[in-house]
Amino acid sequence: MCKKDDILMRIFQIFKPYNGRLMRFWFGGSLLIGLCDPDHVQKILSSPKLVIKHEIYDFMKVFLGQGLITGSGPLHKQHRRLIQPLFDIKFIQDSEKLFRKHVTVCIGKLEKFMDKGKFDITPLIHECIIDYFSEIILGLPFRCQLKGMSDFDQAMIEVFDLIFARMTQLHLQFGILFNLSSYKSVQDRLKRIIRGQGQKALEESRKRRSQLTKDPTIEEKFSPLIDRITNVLGEINDEQIIDHILTLYAAAEDTISNIAVFFVVCLGIYPEYQDKAVKEIEETIGKSKIPTLEDVPKLKYIDSCLKEVLRLFPIAPLIIRKCSEDYKLENYVIPEGAAIVVPVFNIHRDPAHWERPHDFYPDHFIPEKVVKRHIYSYLPFSAGPRGCIGKLISHNALKIFICIFLQHFKVEVDGKLSDLDLKMDISVRPKNSYNIMLKRRNWH
Ligand code: HEM
Repeated sequence: MCKKDDILMRIFQIFKPYNGRLMRFWFGGSLLIGLCDPDHVQKILSSPKLVIKHEIYDFMKVFLGQGLITGSGPLHKQHRRLIQPLFDIKFIQDSEKLFRKHVTVCIGKLEKFMDKGKFDITPLIHECIIDYFSEIILGLPFRCQLKGMSDFDQAMIEVFDLIFARMTQLHLQFGILFNLSSYKSVQDRLKRIIRGQGQKALEESRKRRSQLTKDPTIEEKFSPLIDRITNVLGEINDEQIIDHILTLYAAAEDTISNIAVFFVVCLGIYPEYQDKAVKEIEETIGKSKIPTLEDVPKLKYIDSCLKEVLRLFPIAPLIIRKCSEDYKLENYVIPEGAAIVVPVFNIHRDPAHWERPHDFYPDHFIPEKVVKRHIYSYLPFSAGPRGCIGKLISHNALKIFICIFLQHFKVEVDGKLSDLDLKMDISVRPKNSYNIMLKRRNWH
């Protein structure tokens, strides 16, 4: 019962008094059990019995069908088992090469903003990440950075708002009322564009694969995930392939862009941490060498900074499961049918686990502090059988991005972290665009 943009902070306030405890509340006719104690969270997220996503995720199915985020049950388990190994080291290495190409274009575009005052970096980062994931997931090298956003790219931005409206406004959860609302025509338009792009990617994939079958001597350059998924899943229909690749694209593009923007903004707000990150780059990689995958483990301080960004701005501020059978949790029984809510945003800012819960403080991740903390007090990628399958590729891409960015630019921000008002629309985002300033980095 508040403005859409205030929902995140409202939920934060509701859960806050229950830090470390269990709570229950009703949302319309649904019983929700909230868990903030990392011991409880560990039991829930690692239980193979509690892997069913709550019905609230069904509103995504219009666009993403039975992909890995929305699907549940034996088919989900089987497909996840086959898709997860596709993110092997060879795929990550090959895709990282393509990533560097897209980041180089992005740097060229950002150079035009140097010494020109404040600007919003969000669209430029988005375009770079769109090009990357379009190429490695959909197999469609869009060149969005050179040609601008397509209808599909715009639709993927709009869709989060629409799904969130349905998740949070009770009347829109009833099909009849939703169909009478103005949202219905928006949904139809977005569905046509998004599924249409999936279809196009599938046709291109078929052409690529048939050329290879006809002439196996053609050297296979890079095989995007759509081709790999079709190969490993064998007998699945076109709709299922489209479900999977659109799901992976949606899970990947928006998350990485969002985190990359927060990362740049945080380093701008905290110049002392930016200087430490730059010193690390100078000592490990150098001023101008484009970092490779092998260089990533050297970036230990940047790793702490990234983890801190993911703590403050968890992409999934709430994880919601459906309790499919009565579940005994210590002295309580969570009844079948209830929703189990893990308020990640709250856990990530609980002073019981974090010395400076609301600050950007990379030292939260120095090894001595990490070992003292419960492993389930930090859940940016969730955990257990429904945890994120893109964690490794995300960590590598974000560290490579920030390293190249800092080799070129010094970022400045006029403001404090507390000025950065947050909202959620499935993911956590800034309420308003947040402007930065860029200068050329002067290496001594
Ligand atoms: C910074 C980047 C990312 C973050 C913070 C992130 C976070 C998450 C989280 C929290 C979940 C669990 C959501 C829930 O249970 O409601 C999740 C699931 C998932 N993520 Fe990611 N993700 C990131 C990037 C990626 C990338 C790059 C991919 C793929 C290329 C990906 C693919 C998936 C998939 C397929 C699932 C569903 C897994 C399942 O339920 O079986 N993610 N992610």
